Amino acid sequence: MAAFALPALAASLALSALAAPLFSVGLAPIDDAAMSAKERSAKECASCHPNQAAEWRHSRHGAAFTNAIFQREYKEEPLDWCVHCHAPLKSQFAEVKRGGGPLADEGVNCAVCHVRAGQILARRKNPTSPHNTQVLPDFGSASFCAGCHQFNFPLFGADGQVNGYSAFPMQNTVAQFRSGPHQNGRCADCHGRSPFGHAFPGAHDANMLRSALRYSLCRQGGAVRVTLHNEGAGHNVPTGDVHRHIQVRLWRSSSPERLYEYSLTRRYQPVAGGGKRTVLDTTLPSGATRILSVPLAQLGSAGPATEPLNFELRYVYTIDEFPFHRNQLQEPTYESFARARLLPDQMAQCATTDADRTVLSP
Ligand code: HEC
Ligand code: HEC
Ligand code: HEC
Ligand code: HEC
Ligand code: HEC
Repeated sequence: MAAFALPALAASLALSALAAPLFSVGLAPIDDAAMSAKERSAKECASCHPNQAAEWRHSRHGAAFTNAIFQREYKEEPLDWCVHCHAPLKSQFAEVKRGGGPLADEGVNCAVCHVRAGQILARRKNPTSPHNTQVLPDFGSASFCAGCHQFNFPLFGADGQVNGYSAFPMQNTVAQFRSGPHQNGRCADCHGRSPFGHAFPGAHDANMLRSALRYSLCRQGGAVRVTLHNEGAGHNVPTGDVHRHIQVRLWRSSSPERLYEYSLTRRYQPVAGGGKRTVLDTTLPSGATRILSVPLAQLGSAGPATEPLNFELRYVYTIDEFPFHRNQLQEPTYESFARARLLPDQMAQCATTDADRTVLSP
């Protein structure tokens, strides 16, 4: 481990009940030599755990290797590193090297999280369990999720492969959680609410997106004020993958060319010595509020007083919201999760208490 600068959060997992860390945070595949071929595949587990398996199959964990957004990027940058998180078992990696196969296609499967060295890992052992279960109090905790959900920009070896990490965060979800108002809770408080706890809904779930951000619009003189509040996420919105961003849009149908846009997004710049520094971060921390003030005149004055304004919040998964023809994907690149049409003259007047909050102009 000394050779790698593992992110502190992942390294801390090694200090808990476990002898060795469960996850290498992408630096190596999970050694599954001690697992039988059956134990490695979700098919075996599904025979006795059909409910967990059904939820998992439709989750992003179940689609971590096969989904079109991942596959498009992986084709552009086919690093072993990607596979170690998106299809982490050593046997999956071997399959990928042979051109792919059904085990790799299972992505982050049951064995990745639950099976090590002939044992089932879990937070508790049920009385009816047939397994040789190792009970880990930390199983499913934020440190556990950090094994894949918290890492820095990578460093590259002479062979062009990733061999360590820089000091600059790339996916910062768990650190954001740990410094936010939900730090004493669990990721599962929000991501484990499906009936069998394995759907792990996130940004690909419109209801999750709606529960994350509360918005309101009000009128202040000649301007419209948009207030966004991160009410329902235990980390920034958006978080995770670097390309994800949210577009806030306001426009009149009669003058779409005057479209107002604001992005909750991040920008990075390469650093000498490796990695990339975050030079802009307008993502909204847990519990935080952002106020945007948009002069109505900026949206075009042509429309009659009876013309409503269009408002939209759109979560974009990819760097390109509208892919060029040859880059087109088999799944949506965005989710438009909030829309409204409002007459400026009928909007509520803004409360004066908003005045002491940060007001951002475009
Ligand atoms: C022959 C049936 C059977 C198979 C196959 C099976 N399980 Fe289980 N498992 C059970 C039963 C029964 C329990 C007790 C709790 C329950 O009914 O859900 C259990 C419990 C568990 C638990 C909770 C911890 C415990 O020991 O109570 C986990 C985690 C688990 N199984 C994971 C897996 C995984 C991963 C696989 C595939 C590698 C798998 N199981 C395959 C029957 C099975
Ligand atoms: C991303 C990691 C992850 C994956 C993948 C995963 N699980 Fe789990 N599993 C968890 C977590 C977290 C819990 C809840 C632990 C707790 O009690 O807080 C859990 C709990 C369980 C339990 C115990 C339920 C109980 O009531 O005791 C079973 C059974 C189980 N998983 C089976 C499966 C099966 C089968 C698959 C594959 C189809 C699977 N898991 C895939 C993380 C995962
Ligand atoms: C072995 C690595 C691994 C572990 C452990 C893991 N995840 Fe994931 N998770 C992933 C990957 C990879 C994806 C992205 C899948 C994709 O390509 O869409 C993902 C996706 C997700 C998503 C969906 C995000 C979205 O909107 O697209 C959520 C939510 C999530 N994970 C939560 C958790 C939580 C909570 C835990 C801990 C209980 C956890 N994960 C543990 C690898 C992991
Ligand atoms: C208080 C509820 C809450 C807690 C706690 C929480 N999340 Fe989330 N999470 C959400 C909501 C709501 C979304 C959807 C909004 C979004 O995607 O930003 C989300 C989205 C995500 C996504 C999708 C990625 C993205 O870019 O938006 C990932 C990955 C994720 N969460 C992982 C985690 C992990 C890991 C933890 C624990 C360290 C955690 N979450 C704790 C509510 C929560
Ligand atoms: C250390 C673990 C790790 C490594 C290494 C890694 N990823 Fe991921 N990746 C994740 C996690 C966790 C998520 C989920 C975060 C989110 O939902 O925003 C994710 C999400 C993604 C997504 C978004 C998928 C979606 O459903 O929208 C893409 C695309 C992606 N990764 C591509 C890659 C590529 C390409 C590589 C290699 C160049 C790579 N990843 C390396 C952990 C990793």
